[in-house]
Formats: sequence, C-alpha cells, structure tokens
Amino acid sequence: MIANKTILMLPGDGIGPEVMAQAKRVLGWLQDTKRASFTITEDLVGGAAVDVHGVPITEATMEKALSVDAVLFGAVGGPQYDKLSFDIRPEAALLRLRKDLGVFANLRPAKVFDALVDSSSLKPELVRGLDIMIVRECIGGVYFGEPRGIETLPDGTKRGVNTEVYTTMEIERVGRVAFELARKRNNIVCSVEKANVMESGLLWRQTMQALRDAEYPDVTLSHMYADNCAMQLAKNPKQFDVIVTGNLFGDILSDLAAMLTGSLGMLPSATLGAVDASGRRHAFYEPIHGSAPDIAGKGLANPLAQILSLALLLRYSFDMEEDAAAIEAAVERVLATGGRTADIPAEGRERLSTAQMGDALLAELAKSA
Ligand code: IPM
Ligand code: MG
Repeated sequence: MIANKTILMLPGDGIGPEVMAQAKRVLGWLQDTKRASFTITEDLVGGAAVDVHGVPITEATMEKALSVDAVLFGAVGGPQYDKLSFDIRPEAALLRLRKDLGVFANLRPAKVFDALVDSSSLKPELVRGLDIMIVRECIGGVYFGEPRGIETLPDGTKRGVNTEVYTTMEIERVGRVAFELARKRNNIVCSVEKANVMESGLLWRQTMQALRDAEYPDVTLSHMYADNCAMQLAKNPKQFDVIVTGNLFGDILSDLAAMLTGSLGMLPSATLGAVDASGRRHAFYEPIHGSAPDIAGKGLANPLAQILSLALLLRYSFDMEEDAAAIEAAVERVLATGGRTADIPAEGRERLSTAQMGDALLAELAKSA
C-alpha cells in the first residue's frame, strides 16, 4: 500500500459534481481494498465559487491546489455566467489553475474503445483501434500572450487584440514530453502549427526539428499545418501517433480527435508540470467534456471520462500503474457487456443513469479485486 497521498477535488459546475461523485466511489474502493490511502479535500471552483465567493477560485483554494500531490477537476461554466467579464468567468479559474500550477503539457488521448466503434461519426474501419495522443501546450500561446484587450479607437469603433507568442524554452519543454511519450508508443510525432503564416509557428517548427535531431534521433518527426491536420484527422486519423501543438490549435484539434471516438463523455486528460528538485510535479486531471448545462442535474451524464481521469492521476502522479490499468480494464468490460449511458447508446440496451454506470463499474472492479 502506498503512503498517504493528497488530492484536491474540484467538481465545479453542471455535470461536474455528478460525475465526480462516481469518481469518489472509485477512490473509496481503492481505500476500502487497501490499495492506497488518500487524504482528499474538496472545494468550490468555477460558477459554484462565483455564487458563494464572487470569484471563480479563491486564494485559499489556489493555495490548496499548489500544496497537494494532484488536482482532480470536474468541469466549469454555465449560461448564467456568460455575461461576466473574462477575469471572473468560471473558465478563468481553469486558466489560472493551469498557469499557476505551471502545468504546461496537456495530454489528451483519443482512444476508440472496441465496443464503441459504431458510436463514431466516421466509418468503423477508419476508427477501429484508433489511439492518438494529443500533447497540447497549455500555459502559453494566444491564451496568455500580451498585449491583449479591447480598446476604443479615436473614431469610437473598437479593436480587440490577442497575441500568439512562444519562446524556445516553452516549445522545447512540451516537445520533450511529446517525444518521451512517443518512445513508449509508436515512436512517431507530428508537430502542428501554421509556419506558413505565423512567425511563432515557424519558430515552433524549427525548434521541434532541432530538438528531435539533437535529443530524439530515434523518433520519427513530421510537421503539418493546423488546417491540414484538421482535415487529416477527419480523413485518416490512424496515420497519427503523437500530435504536439500549441494551446489554441490543441484546443480545437483535441475536440475534433475526441469526437472521432464517438463520445466526449469517454475521454480523460492529464496536465503535467515540470519535475522539481525534490522529484515532485504539479498535476491536474480533468475530463475533456465540459459542464454540459443542458443535461446537468438529470443523472444522464457519463461518469467514465471523470473516472478515467482518476486512472490517469493514479498512473502519472502516484505511479499506481496496476490500479490505473484495473480501472481502464473495468471500463472496457462495462462497455463490452453493454453498459451504456445516453451519450453512447446501443441498440436494445437500457440507458444507464450516471449512478447506475458507477454501480456497473464498481461491480466490474470488485471482480478484479
Ligand atoms: C478545454 C476548454 C478550455 C480551453 C476552456 C473551458 C477555457 O475548452 O480545456 O479545452 O479553452 O482550454
Ligand atoms: Mg476545449
């Protein structure tokens, strides 16, 4: 049994609390079966924090996030907050957490479960066995670049500005994460930018190539423009192994890649920082889906992406590979035996509620105990 580890849970808004409740049950199972002991704290984030504190994340919550071993996040946002200014919108909490934790590498796997091949909008032969890892730079680029803002021009009209900016250091550190991951997979990296129109993209391309030549000569590296990458993902997604790209292109391409798998409700993500001198690193885990306000509170949400995010947490932060794999295998078995929430319907199968999906998963986990 591994030593006491600390986790901060931030369920957030919309379906966040519902799916997090099921992840909690899995953590409970890990503790009950003495696989590990965790100290878990929970706090408000996003709209839930705006409602109580007037800000999407308090300083106290930020401090907790900085002190724990890992943060497990749900989702934030909802239509009632759309009129707030950028700095106090629910999304601001997510961006601040990423930035202040320094978690620069966002790992977004897009993996097709065999049982869900028919849920994809693409033909089965295009997606069967699909397993892509998108590595998205997460604390730089146009999301954070300066100058930014909206100014009023002398004639009274306005001008909105954001800046795409990347330094050698920022490109290299996320590049290393991508090359290291590729070595554990099929050893192929595709680096994506718009070097044909953007200087930051040209620097990205040159830096990735130089890094590969100097440190990862065994890894196959190709370069692709972001628009072409979008097309290739829809046309022949299995050509990719690891894709590495900046913040904005990564945001867009990861939604596209996720949808190839049939359901956003299935996909987890991990966002990792640098390892410090004491061997620790900040890490943040969240499902790729958002807060889905349209189905919130109805017990319809698929909790599997949240539970698979917990599996990534066990793997990357706590080195609990066996338990992570046990959870992933249990998810596969639930799907293979027809366990379906509303987002992944199957002919003739009853649609499970969020909690019933949790029940089905725990039943499978119990078998692996
Ligand atoms: C994501 C989301 C966020 C992003 C939003 C909620 C700020 O779309 O994690 O992909 O744009 O990074
Ligand atoms: Mg997004």
